[in-house]
Amino acid sequence: MTTQPTNGDTLTITDNRTGRSYEVQVSDGTIRATDLRQIKVDDADFGLMTYDPAFMNTASCRSAITFLDGDAGVLQYRGYPIEQLAADSTFLEVAYLLLNGELPSTPHLDHWVSDIADHMFVHENVRTFMEGFRYDAHPMGMLLSAIGALGTYYPEAVEIDNPEVRYEQIVRLIAKMPTLGAWAFRHSLGQPFVYPDREKSYTENFLAMMFQVGNKYEADPRLVRALDVLFILHADHEQNCSTSAVRSVGSSQVDPYSSVAAGIGALYGPLHGGANEAVLRMLRRIGTKDNIPAFMEGVKAGNERLMGFGHRVYKNFDPRATIIKRACDDVFEVTGVNPLLSIAQELEKIALADEYFVKRKLYPNVDFYSGLIYEALGIPAEMFTVLFAIGRTPGWVAQWSEMIQDKEQKISRPRQVYVGPGTRDYVEIGAR
Ligand code: CMC
Repeated sequence: MTTQPTNGDTLTITDNRTGRSYEVQVSDGTIRATDLRQIKVDDADFGLMTYDPAFMNTASCRSAITFLDGDAGVLQYRGYPIEQLAADSTFLEVAYLLLNGELPSTPHLDHWVSDIADHMFVHENVRTFMEGFRYDAHPMGMLLSAIGALGTYYPEAVEIDNPEVRYEQIVRLIAKMPTLGAWAFRHSLGQPFVYPDREKSYTENFLAMMFQVGNKYEADPRLVRALDVLFILHADHEQNCSTSAVRSVGSSQVDPYSSVAAGIGALYGPLHGGANEAVLRMLRRIGTKDNIPAFMEGVKAGNERLMGFGHRVYKNFDPRATIIKRACDDVFEVTGVNPLLSIAQELEKIALADEYFVKRKLYPNVDFYSGLIYEALGIPAEMFTVLFAIGRTPGWVAQWSEMIQDKEQKISRPRQVYVGPGTRDYVEIGAR
């Protein structure tokens, strides 16, 4: 049997089990996995599926937000190259762009920035909530729980099909993330929480809420700008692990706080956002350049990974790492050079010339140098992933919003290939 040919690009598949041929549509370089279901050995057959652990070659959505070409080292938000945005834009302008598809006019940007500033405050009750964590709680664990808890303050957030309600939650999530992140840090120090200040910019506010003592805190504008650029670089990265988590959980139509909490959980892991913290710990453990050869032998023997190296998509260079490396110079001009920089540079030099890394196309990723900047800003390693989360929030909510409005999306529910035992009878405990 041959199915009816379709117009345009098609793919002909011959099933050698049955000798039948099928023609399926190819569009945007993809075939629809569900088109394979017609391929059956007999009527009782469920139909052909694809097996793709870790989604190595499966597009789960159509998205107009971020374009990434891993081989060419290209990253664009809504068509704008990351290099241009990092040079000329601001984090909140980029957030607007990700959410709305276009750069804002001046009145639109003013309105947006003002809305965010209004919502940086949290309900006073959140203070008590934050104070309830153990003194040594990891700030990412605190942020994850706090964002989940925030959903309980805004029960209307479940109205995900209402654009005004959606906008309100998007603003709240972007606005409150630095407040909660900074408070998690202050809690770990046993220091009083600092409230946001409407007169300060978003990024300046974050630094002040982290470091202000008494009423005094004056951030060097060069450091504020460097952190703003880091937030821009982290703002979105298409269907990475945490964004897929946000989309997948959001597809159940739960409120966006629960979806973003899932994203924070995914980001926490050392193979994702947690890598920047792991890089710093690794550099400290290596300690001196003399220890690098032995460390590298261990990596190549498979004992551990060179953290901050490698990427699922980038197989040439990570454009964000290139920008961060330059930002390092700006920051170190103000703060003095981080002594771990020379170890990082030496590791990079050795790795880029080593057959093991070259063959596997492993290059420094966004996390390799970002930790050095954070540390130079006086931010402890446990906070690094929190900074990643603050930067990534506009991407998460833009992707969530796109997913909610995408008529093709349904509740996310992958298939499996069952490899367990066949049907068998229950055995009473005494007879086992
Ligand atoms: N150090 C040493 N070997 C590595 C590394 C590394 N950092 N990354 C990958 N490899 C090897 C890996 O052992 C494998 O070798 P083989 O073919 O001999 O088995 C090969 O390279 C392919 O690795 P993979 O694990 O199949 O690649 P992946 O696409 O599944 O993983 C990755 C991508 C980022 C998880 C991985 O490169 C890694 O673990 N890197 C270190 C952690 C890190 O820096 N993560 C931050 C990623 S960027 C920011 C973000 O998105 O959060």
